[in-house]
Amino acid sequence: MEKLVIEGGRPLSGTVQIHGSKNAALPILAACLLADGIHVIENVPKLLDIEVMLEILRALGCRAEHADERVILDTADVNSHHIPEKLMRQMRSSIFLMGPLLARFGKVQIYQPGGCAIGSRKIDLHLRGLESLGAVIDVSADTIKCSVEKLKGEDILLDLPSVGATENIMMAAVMAEGTTTIHNAAREPEITDLQNFLNAMGADISGAGTDTIIIHGVAKLTPCLYRVIPDRIVAGTLMIAAAVTRGTITLRNMDPKYLTAVIHVLKRVGVQIRTEDDIIYVNCMNRPKPVDQIVTSPYPAFPTDLQAQMMVLLSLADGFSILKETVFDGRFKHVDELNRMGADIRQDWNSAFIRGVPRLYGTTVEATDLRAGAALVLAGLAAAGTTVVEQIQHIDRGYDRIEEIFQQLGGQIQRCALIPKV
Ligand code: EPZ
Repeated sequence: MEKLVIEGGRPLSGTVQIHGSKNAALPILAACLLADGIHVIENVPKLLDIEVMLEILRALGCRAEHADERVILDTADVNSHHIPEKLMRQMRSSIFLMGPLLARFGKVQIYQPGGCAIGSRKIDLHLRGLESLGAVIDVSADTIKCSVEKLKGEDILLDLPSVGATENIMMAAVMAEGTTTIHNAAREPEITDLQNFLNAMGADISGAGTDTIIIHGVAKLTPCLYRVIPDRIVAGTLMIAAAVTRGTITLRNMDPKYLTAVIHVLKRVGVQIRTEDDIIYVNCMNRPKPVDQIVTSPYPAFPTDLQAQMMVLLSLADGFSILKETVFDGRFKHVDELNRMGADIRQDWNSAFIRGVPRLYGTTVEATDLRAGAALVLAGLAAAGTTVVEQIQHIDRGYDRIEEIFQQLGGQIQRCALIPKV
């Protein structure tokens, strides 16, 4: 086990390159199962979730190498449709292997992914979408088995614009008979990246980025070379890190159009932001201003994956703010840890009432999930004194060596081994 030790109170400064998007790479790696042969996927970051996905693909019979942010994946000898339980438990996102495996084998068996630290994480929209395409689904206490003779295109309406369900249905429908239309589809940039990858393999999909995606089934797909988009949540995390430390940073190779809502909110808080093609300049010399209310919602609204990080900034604002989480039903586990650092935050169901304080104070805190952990790192960088963040394996799921990213920006942060308490 490891921990991060952070000496806070120093403004971040410098330039950093944004690594590839975890939430774009994961479905794209799963989609490689739709075509036999050798795929080359570039700009894939070294993250725990990516390694688990590659382990699952190897368990299914793929050969997979990952070096220098490039994945070479040979899917020619895939010979199983059964996702190993241990690996499924490590990463619930393996749920979107269902679509590709159903399309390739006509059957798939997974284990109930269960909830996680941020909420119940239901999968009813995934299952209902696959059933609409003709799959027969047998759900038991711990496994889910799906089978289908031939997937047939259908009109599907999602009750919620679920990212994963949209991706699963796209991948299942890509070689189905006829046309599938997904209404109320998720509009995240990662969905557009998946559409572009599938079309590069020979699919016929349009509409990603809007709430209606149309998939005309094709007979066959072929492997291809593809480059994943940069990670907008990592970029947003760094922008907020610059703000909480009153620093001045430059982000490279990040298209600001993916961060419109985040830029809008940060400007309301008083952060100076300038953009130029795929460069974003961030500068925050003054104490942040409070905002009456920020509400997380599906893209293009303010992203739930930056809610915890934004809470750190608002906890240092000169006044009272409200942060409302409407996407997940349990994504406030960072509130207690921030209050232990001197924040003044009260939670009532899905709203956090934040009274800004002049300063946070370092102490030992525990990451409970990926983005809460990233938020605690930001709090440590801003706080007076030393902060120790434990359970950092959660952070490694979504940030490629987070300590090195912040060291590049002048942050005093080290990764150390956690000596077990005897
Ligand atoms: C994706 O998760 C992302 N993960 C999440 O990022 C992100 O927070 C989320 O989309 C929202 O943007 C990946 O892409 C790997 P959803 P996903 O299906 O697909 C409910 C991170 O930190 N729902 O859009 O699981 C669900 O309970 C992670 O990088 C149903 O009710 O998100 C949740 O409340 C965290 N039934 C809401 O929809 C379903 O069948 C949004 O979930 C599916 C979802």
